[in-house]
Amino acid sequence: MISGRQISEDFMAKQGPTAKLLDWYRAHRRDLPWRSAAPEPYAVWLSEIMLQQTTVAAVKDYYSTFLAKWPDVGALAAAPLDDVLRAWAGLGYYARARNLHACAMKVALDLNGRFPDTEAGLRQLPGIGPYTAGAIAAIAFNCPAAAVDGNVERVISRYHSIETPLPESKPEIKRLTTALIPPEAPGDFAQGLMDLGATICSPKNPNCLICPWTEDCAARKAGIAETLPRKPAKKKMPTRRGIAFWIERGDGAVLLRRRPEKGLLGGMMEVPSTHWAQRLPTSPESEAPLAARWTRTGASVLHTFTHFHLELDVWKATAGDTTLPEGCVWIARHDLAAEALPTLMRKVIEAALAA
Ligand code: ADE
Repeated sequence: MISGRQISEDFMAKQGPTAKLLDWYRAHRRDLPWRSAAPEPYAVWLSEIMLQQTTVAAVKDYYSTFLAKWPDVGALAAAPLDDVLRAWAGLGYYARARNLHACAMKVALDLNGRFPDTEAGLRQLPGIGPYTAGAIAAIAFNCPAAAVDGNVERVISRYHSIETPLPESKPEIKRLTTALIPPEAPGDFAQGLMDLGATICSPKNPNCLICPWTEDCAARKAGIAETLPRKPAKKKMPTRRGIAFWIERGDGAVLLRRRPEKGLLGGMMEVPSTHWAQRLPTSPESEAPLAARWTRTGASVLHTFTHFHLELDVWKATAGDTTLPEGCVWIARHDLAAEALPTLMRKVIEAALAA
């Protein structure tokens, strides 16, 4: 007699990796605010832009706030850029917020409020690279598109035991991912791969025991799962240094300055500082926005950007009756929280207030 267990094992053996992943995803998928049975292109796009280079945990609250404030692409396009930057503050990589706004304007004004429904069409929009175009096309429009980010590279490299190092292996990974996409459910497949990479096939200590691909994973069979994907040796990140000038007026207002539109933290407000370089400038005072009697507080702030660490020492001064330096504004203490301040500058404020 054939047992129920035998039937189920035979059935599992006949299932290919795609079916196994879909079954697993439908049973175990993460409950995320942007996941719905009928995903709205605007909501999918918003979530995918926010999720670029950021974690799901960091994005959840921002996503809900943005959707509540700007429920459709027309509302976001009509919002002043400064409001969008302010709501984005803390999420990092501020060029993404500028691109988000530019993209909303393009879709609302040039495309009648409709997002393109193909990967190629989406790639034409600001802020949408190959990964994001693939993810939106698959999730919002059910196009058979691959969305390959670092997580997916890891999962596919392991499943096929690809020992060619990144980035050389990227085209092969994309081809092998595309070959697995089910035409009837590309969105679930893309999100299944994301979830597998985020929850089971982790960089260290992958939980192979509960992985839906455990039986067929070539790297697990070879005992090398944890060593893949191979990557070139990491370059050591340089450290840059500078001095942040905390300047208070008699009434407690603080001097802030807007950063140049182009470049790092473009257009965000900052506590003015010297330039950032390997060594501290020899006469930092000459780079202060105004002449004052400086106190070296001894406080410093550490922050890491994509390509370098930054260490900012905090100096303090009280301003007399001076003319306002170019590009600067006085912000009342209780209004600081509402400013579009990047995380680095929030750290500087905290350090200055505690010093
Ligand atoms: N990372 C990038 N896009 C994602 C999504 N749609 N769901 C979960 N994690 C993601």
